[in-house]
Amino acid sequence: MTQAKPQPSGQLDEAEAARELASLAAEIAKYDRAYHELDAPLISDAEYDALRRRNDVIEKRFPHLVRPDSPSRRVGMAPSAGFAKIVHRVPMLSLGNVFAPEDFADFCDRARRFLGRGAPFAMVGEPKIDGLSLSLTYEDGALSRAGTRGDGTEGEDVTANVRTIAAIPTKLKGKAPALIEIRGEVFMTKADFLALNATQEKASGKVFANPRNAAAGSLRQLDPAITASRPLSFFAYAMGEASEAVAATHWEYLQRLRHWGFVVNPLSRHLGAETDAPGFQDEMAMRRADLAYDIDGVVYKIDDLALQTRLGFVGREPRWAIAWKFPAEQATTKLLDIQIQVGRTGALTPVAVLESVNVGGVLVSRATLHNEDEIKRLDVRVGDTVRIQRAGDVIPQVLGIVAEARPAGAHPFRFPRHCPVCGSHAVRAEGEVVWRCSGGLTCPAQVEERLIHFASRGAFDIEGMGEKSVHEFHALGWIRSPADIFRLPAREDEIAQLEGWGEQSAANLVRAINERRRIGLARFIYALGIRRIGAANARLLARHYGDIDTFLAAMQQAVAPESEARVAVTSIIGIGPAIAEELAEFFGEERNVRAVRALAAELAVEPEEVSGGGVLAGKTVVFTGTLPTLSRPEAKAMAERHGAKVTDSVSKRTDYVVIGADAGSKARKAAELGVTVLDEEGFRALLRDTA
Ligand code: IVH
Repeated sequence: MTQAKPQPSGQLDEAEAARELASLAAEIAKYDRAYHELDAPLISDAEYDALRRRNDVIEKRFPHLVRPDSPSRRVGMAPSAGFAKIVHRVPMLSLGNVFAPEDFADFCDRARRFLGRGAPFAMVGEPKIDGLSLSLTYEDGALSRAGTRGDGTEGEDVTANVRTIAAIPTKLKGKAPALIEIRGEVFMTKADFLALNATQEKASGKVFANPRNAAAGSLRQLDPAITASRPLSFFAYAMGEASEAVAATHWEYLQRLRHWGFVVNPLSRHLGAETDAPGFQDEMAMRRADLAYDIDGVVYKIDDLALQTRLGFVGREPRWAIAWKFPAEQATTKLLDIQIQVGRTGALTPVAVLESVNVGGVLVSRATLHNEDEIKRLDVRVGDTVRIQRAGDVIPQVLGIVAEARPAGAHPFRFPRHCPVCGSHAVRAEGEVVWRCSGGLTCPAQVEERLIHFASRGAFDIEGMGEKSVHEFHALGWIRSPADIFRLPAREDEIAQLEGWGEQSAANLVRAINERRRIGLARFIYALGIRRIGAANARLLARHYGDIDTFLAAMQQAVAPESEARVAVTSIIGIGPAIAEELAEFFGEERNVRAVRALAAELAVEPEEVSGGGVLAGKTVVFTGTLPTLSRPEAKAMAERHGAKVTDSVSKRTDYVVIGADAGSKARKAAELGVTVLDEEGFRALLRDTA
């Protein structure tokens, strides 16, 4: 703090006390505003806390001097007062990306194969704006709720702020379903962004890095009056839940959105066939620079909504829509160094440290070099001039070198044979390209990376437990394994004393940790950070085993390679032998099992809902042979949508075997075991009858 050391309050006379309370009130109000409204704190939490404490001490001695605007009287301004959470009725998903016409054609072919059809698709092309997606709920035509995407399942309730955005109607015009969720993108035009930054700069407010951040920062304001003062735009483009069907095609849906009073991007276009997409893509690429807002590609959606429903989703991405991104931006710069990063599974990844260069509007100073072979293939050496590329949000890549620019004396890079952090031997398994640190959990880098992953967004999502805090608490010896994170609340006072923390941030962290003591099984599994167990595989496992005890018991049994439990893991569709092997390796280590159990003891792990409890909930289905109209993926997706677990092999526990032409041994085995056998028609009837 820069002020003179304050007098002990015991020595203040009344006049001095009154003066100091007045200045504290003004000062604290200023810091509150910076923190809450501008997302830009001016002082550290510790300094802020000291001011509040000083105010309290003086007020206690001179209670009659407490001012009407005293910081101690203001309520509802606690920094932790974030937004309420809302759960999306229909998850808000993301989109797969393609960069080339062949990949786009592949996307269409995959959808066709899934549907088992031959005809090309009619599509809608929509410019892809990089903003912030919102889900708006209308009940009886009136806006009742607005949420950000958040992690796709749970977002923030920003209803009050959204009501101030002119482009979003609070009442739908004309007839509308009793309940409908409308989705779209909040964004800021390039001109509005520049003007806002100019104003902010004058007012010493927060200056935003790009239009997307400006839109996000303007929407996520605790005071709706601030959102109202910001120039936000909105394009509507998708649907969540609806109490009745509103259109047969996406194009028709866009027209209805217009009639209800939404702005639909006027550049959106109906394409009679998917083969019109490349032309539209080129046209948009040409017009890109002249548009009032930034776009990074075009979203293509299969127009027929009935086909969209049949296609459904894989993981977090729809099978019926794709983002075709504009080509990656490239630049050349100098390679200053090659550093080795240690990942959470010990992978040693070489990272190019670059002379900062602007690549399509983003400053890049690091790029990935992937692995040892890639460095050899490119023959890239420190001192070289390199060509780099940045595509979308992907980590920039080194494409190659400018051979003529190589300085004399540049020598080939020798990939280290030891972990740069813990010094353990590095090993490269046969057939693999990756060198790994063999230190396991004795390597501090691996431990930290696992903890960072554990607390990250798709996992436990603990606000305030980012890279920096993990590093700090780990260095202090407070956290060694995930369970320790849940023991941090006992250290709240110690945390508050740490440099840069203070009572408020410590309290916020403790709250964030305690809020995560209840967690779904899929997130729990994903958070463990087992190799090859990403979010999608974690979900498959969670849906298969249902609850934590069953899961842990099965995992420990499956450690034995020939066990029935191991066979069961590999028969989960989507989980092959290689993944089962990784699970076995993880759960084969006693200390991992101990760490997982210790963690579970701190938590309430909620069982996974089996696909919304559909008519096949709890049932196991096996498909075999060629079905007359359904492709295998579609049949599987249908069964799963109705709650079934689809596996590959028939056992006593199988409920239905659906057979098609040329069904072989599985059909015989079903008959032997007395499992119900159905054909496609019987399967469809089952879904209808029980529906
Ligand atoms: S459709 C399941 N349409 O892109 C369908 N998304 O990468 C999901 N986006 O989260 C969205 N323009 O924020 C769709 N015309 C458009 C879009 C669009 C921009 C954003 C949106 C989404 C992200 C996915």
